[in-house]
Amino acid sequence: MTLMQGKKGIIFGVSNKRGIAYAIAQKLYENGAEIAFTYANEAMKDRVTPIAEEMNSKLIIECDVTNEEQMKHVFEEYQKVYGTIDFVIHAVAFANKEDLHGKFSDTTKAGWDLALGVSAYSLIPMARYAKPLMNEGATITALTYLGSVRAVCNYNIMGVAKAALESTVRYLAYEFGKDGIRVNALSAGPVKTLAAKGIGDFDTMLKVAAMKAPLRRNVALEDVGKAGLYLASDMSSGVTGEVHYVDCGFNIMGVSEADAGLVKQ
Ligand SMILES: NC(=O)c1ccc[n+]([C@@H]2O[C@H](COP(=O)([O-])OP(=O)(O)OC[C@H]3O[C@@H](n4cnc5c(N)ncnc54)[C@H](O)[C@@H]3O)[C@@H](O)[C@H]2O)c1
Repeated sequence: MTLMQGKKGIIFGVSNKRGIAYAIAQKLYENGAEIAFTYANEAMKDRVTPIAEEMNSKLIIECDVTNEEQMKHVFEEYQKVYGTIDFVIHAVAFANKEDLHGKFSDTTKAGWDLALGVSAYSLIPMARYAKPLMNEGATITALTYLGSVRAVCNYNIMGVAKAALESTVRYLAYEFGKDGIRVNALSAGPVKTLAAKGIGDFDTMLKVAAMKAPLRRNVALEDVGKAGLYLASDMSSGVTGEVHYVDCGFNIMGVSEADAGLVKQ
């Protein structure tokens, strides 16, 4: 397929082949996109480099998203190599492990600042530095989760960060819309990734989602990758400011057969 032929862009957040960013990168690459990759720190460099090389990337560069100078530098280097931008993928999130289980009311100011800084605020400088390079019809896609709008056991501070991220998406969509640039959030169902390991009792999230979702299964990375391609490409040309759920329908559910089973026990 050639949906992304001639399109160039940058992905923040690839960690390994089990991650969501990789799944999206793969679909974009298969469809002809040229992709620049960033890695969070030296430790991640060795994981990201072979993946980026597999996709013939011309730019593999460090970017701790909390470091605005580094972010600025990334886009300067990107411009030298690729010139213009057709898509940006934000698949970056972090919170202290102690803030991802137990009592939400124990969240510290430092934990709040860290989670919201990495996972939500970072989209703003990313969009700011990307914007001057963006072609008309370009897209920004950020990864989010249902914990932004529902209370999900142990998701805690990350739910607040995702709420801020989704709101940021809407404000950026409004501001950039007049230049034909679209900004959306992709809300994925739970996937067992590196980041997910930090969330307390993540296996329960997986089990409950698979039991209650209309499709009676969890999302596969492939499902998320394909939806990432849709949002990053011209296939979603009339869509902006949206939170697009890719969760086998879990978010629509009230009471399910699985809940009925619990009540009978
Ligand atoms: N796994 C899930 O169930 C799930 C569900 C919905 C949304 N998401 C979101 O998808 C995105 C990708 O996460 P994932 O689950 O694939 O896990 P992942 O561990 O593969 O990706 C998280 C990435 O964030 C990067 N990162 C963390 N701190 C950073 C920093 N300061 N600077 C730059 N990069 C930093 C990590 O290096 C990693 O590459 C995240 O936004 C996550 O919240 C995940």
